[in-house]
Formats: sequence, structure tokens, C-alpha cells
Amino acid sequence: MPPRFVFVVCQQGAESCCKEEINANHPGLKLAFSRPGFVTFKDDTESLGERFQLRSTFARTFGLSIGSRKAASMSELAGTLVDATSTCAARRLHVWQRDSQVPGTGGFEPGPTALALEAALAIERKRMERGLPSIPINRVARADELVLDTILVEPDYWFWGFHYADAKCQRWPGGTPVFDIRQEVVSRAYFKLHEALLWSGIRIRAGDVCAEIGSSPGGSCQLLLEFGAEVIAIDPAELHPSVAEHPRLTHLKCRGTEVCRKLLKDVCWLTCDVNLPPEYTLEMISDFASNQHLRKLRGIVLTLKIPDWGLAAEIPRWRERVKQLGFLWVRTRQLAFNRQEICLVAVRDRYALRTLARSGDRGEQKPRV
Ligand SMILES: C[S@@+](CC[C@H](N)C(=O)[O-])C[C@H]1O[C@@H](n2cnc3c(N)ncnc32)[C@H](O)[C@@H]1O
Repeated sequence: MPPRFVFVVCQQGAESCCKEEINANHPGLKLAFSRPGFVTFKDDTESLGERFQLRSTFARTFGLSIGSRKAASMSELAGTLVDATSTCAARRLHVWQRDSQVPGTGGFEPGPTALALEAALAIERKRMERGLPSIPINRVARADELVLDTILVEPDYWFWGFHYADAKCQRWPGGTPVFDIRQEVVSRAYFKLHEALLWSGIRIRAGDVCAEIGSSPGGSCQLLLEFGAEVIAIDPAELHPSVAEHPRLTHLKCRGTEVCRKLLKDVCWLTCDVNLPPEYTLEMISDFASNQHLRKLRGIVLTLKIPDWGLAAEIPRWRERVKQLGFLWVRTRQLAFNRQEICLVAVRDRYALRTLARSGDRGEQKPRV
């Protein structure tokens, strides 16, 4: 049997964290090839099935890597890929470029690029020439669908493989939710929180009371207001007038530690996006979550800054610390829209998430505009 390889896509700079996590959780995987934001591993034990899942905070998406090719012409690359994958019964074709920068820097945001679309169309043309059925390009996969992945590691160096869209984030092309990033938002925290909610399955309902610590200038508040929530914004800094003047928003102009907890008695979702070290954030959140007035709290969404990648080793301890606060379901992920930070989501009772899946409501939650 030929050796089996796994590809992993992550944020630029997070490769070492990704490798360490994967070495610890999947000792059979050995590093094979690496570029900023893209890593492959050889499965030495050949223990991974086709539907394997990686336990990793930093892997944005992953799959089995079945081929690669370097060539100057796009037509040649597409032709090689199509010949090599002609028997793959994929229902979706996901094509994307390796991140060129850290998201949120130099105007770069993750997501579809013109070059990736051009490559996808070249693949489609080659499939047509060979009499193969066309596959929808860069559409969100349905749960469990087989996806054919093409990663433009360089414009002239492609890797391809496949995965089953088991987890929510594996349904998105390149593990990145498809947002219209041209829309006017108060800050990019709007996309970050939206991705966190989609990934975790938390649904904010109209009338839910949400508190956001570290809310200025107000992108997250903007999203929560669009979902119909009542928002309590906690930040000593000013909010953008479009959120500050919203009738469903109350601004407590102080630090999180200074808030009178009684004012938060109806809060069911607490989000925190302060630009402070994770230990400080977790200390503050522990204090909120264990406060007698916050009995209605159902879940938290935290941004934890990791200015030093060495801090990544602390992530399992951070999850454990949050579990100790009575949150039964705790997950971490470096979101596609995160900068050098990760997202921690925790809910007291996972049932709230499961009922959503059972109700047959498979649609993405969209803001009401
Ligand atoms: C990354 S910005 C938050 C962006 C914001 N979530 C948004 O949606 O636009 C970090 C914010 O944390 C605030 N901050 C820092 N320490 C804080 C504290 N102890 N309590 C509340 N806010 C704090 C800062 O004033 C700053 O506005």
C-alpha cells in the first residue's frame, strides 16, 4: 500500500504549534512537508481511516493528501489533478490558496481569491474534457459529503486530497466560513464572533441578553444586535455611534472587573475580547461565571491572545480551568478570522447545541439586516 499523507492548513506562524499538538495527539503522524500555513504529515502507522478527525486547536482544516504537482501552466496542473482524481466520487470541489499573511494584517483576510477561482474553473474544464460530471465549486458542503480539496500552496505548486465534511468547519472551503468581507462592519471582530458562533453551533436568539467585555469599537456588538440580542457592552473606551446609540445596547463604561454583577443577572451569553494576557481574561471570566447573580449564564465565547506561540502549550490547561467552572462542553479553535489568538467556547449544557441539530435546522445563522 502506498504511504498515506495528511494535509493540514493553519494560520501562518502557527505551524510549530500545529506540529506539536498533532505529535502529541496522533503520535503515528510524522512531519513531511511544510510551508507557512500548510503542513503535511506521513501516517507511519497507517492507522488513519478515511474519516479520521484531528484533535487540534490550530488545524483550520485537514484531509488525506493524495497528490501534488509543480508546473508553470495552470492547464497542466489541472489536467494532472483531474487524471489523478477521476475515480474520486466527490460531491464538492474546494479550491483555495494558502494564506499569504496573518489574517487582519496588511489588508489580508482569509477566503476565496481570484486565483483560486481561476484554478477551480481550469479543473472544471478538464473534467468536462474527460467526460466527468461537474462538481459545485467552493460551496459549503453538506454534512458528511466527500470533498475534493485543492490547495494552491504556490500559484504553480498544487496539493490535492479529500476529506469527509464531518465537523462544521470542514464543510467550509479551506475551513474558512464564506462571508462577504466587503460589507460595512464596525470592526473585524464582527466576522470573528460570527465564525465562532457558526463553528460552535451557539445560536443567539432575539431577546437573548449578551454581555461583551472589551467591546470597543463594537463589531461584535453590531453582530449581536443584528441577531436581535439585548447587548451589555463593557469597555472603558468609546463605542462607534452606530452601536452606542442602538436602543437595545447599554454601555457600561468601565473595566470588566469593575462591573456591578447584579446588572448582569439576565445575561445568558458572555463574550470577552480584551487585549490582555489569557491568565487575566480567565481570572476575570472565572469570577463572572461563579458569581451568584449570573445564574442564567449558558455559555461563553472568549478570545485568548497568544502573543508568544509558546503559550499554546497552556491551551489544555485553559480548557480544564473553564471545565472546572461547570461548563461541560469546552472547545478551542484558532478561527480563520483570528489573529495571533485563539477562540475558546464553552457551554454549561451541550443539550442546547444538540437540540439545534435535531430540529433539522441546518441553515447557517444569518444576521437580520
Ligand atoms: C480587540 S479590542 C475589542 C474589539 C471589540 N470586541 C469589537 O467588537 O470591536 C480590545 C478592547 O478591550 C478593552 N479592554 C482592555 N481591558 C479591558 C478590561 N479589563 N475590561 C473591559 N475592556 C477592556 C480595550 O479598551 C479595547 O477596546
